[in-house]
Amino acid sequence: MTQDELKQAVARAALDEIRPLLNRDTIIGVGTGSTANLFIDALAEVKHDFAGAVASSEATAQRLKGHGIDVFELNHVGTVPVYVDGADEIDPRLAMIKGGGAALTREKIVAACAERFVCIADGSKQVDILGGFPLPVEVIPMARSYVARELVKLGADPVYRDGVLTDNGNRILDCYNFLIEDPITMEARINAIVGVVTNGLFAARGADVLLIGRENGVERIT
Ligand code: 5RP
Repeated sequence: MTQDELKQAVARAALDEIRPLLNRDTIIGVGTGSTANLFIDALAEVKHDFAGAVASSEATAQRLKGHGIDVFELNHVGTVPVYVDGADEIDPRLAMIKGGGAALTREKIVAACAERFVCIADGSKQVDILGGFPLPVEVIPMARSYVARELVKLGADPVYRDGVLTDNGNRILDCYNFLIEDPITMEARINAIVGVVTNGLFAARGADVLLIGRENGVERIT
């Protein structure tokens, strides 16, 4: 199976996973990226069975609306029963690196408001230790150089993601050569740097369910 076919399989498995939660009042949280996009496409098949969605990015909002799925403001919704999103890496404790698509801040906000986080990923995303994928950090533009110097002190090699502006008008630093032994502690340490908006470690609030796509099928891990 190709990587795209594996993503397709987990997107469909996610639809089966959330189907019992759907009723005419249900509003679900939807992530960002190529795997989340396939989930949105699958979700369109049952769009008359739920009220709508909260989007974790402008791109996701556009795709949802393109399928005729209503998009709600998070502030008008409060909590969502489930948030479905991909990941760049996920470890055995279901802590993740996210933000490859620069949507990490809104993703983390919607995830924080979700009763359950369902992560959908192809097998290549599973790792023992996070950090092979460069950790994204969203920063206030004027703090970019300062934050980069502080990240070097933590052991990272931050690289400015040239030309990328987040949905929130901020910039991204990607931390290379930065294996993360203790994701919960590192998430908090990076967030404590002045000028950091969010970092892409989803450890304090990791996934509750992982649907991982492999050659022999989709495995469900909790
Ligand atoms: C976007 C993300 C995505 O979930 C992550 O990058 C995975 O993307 P894909 O499903 O395309 O591999 O965090 O900010």
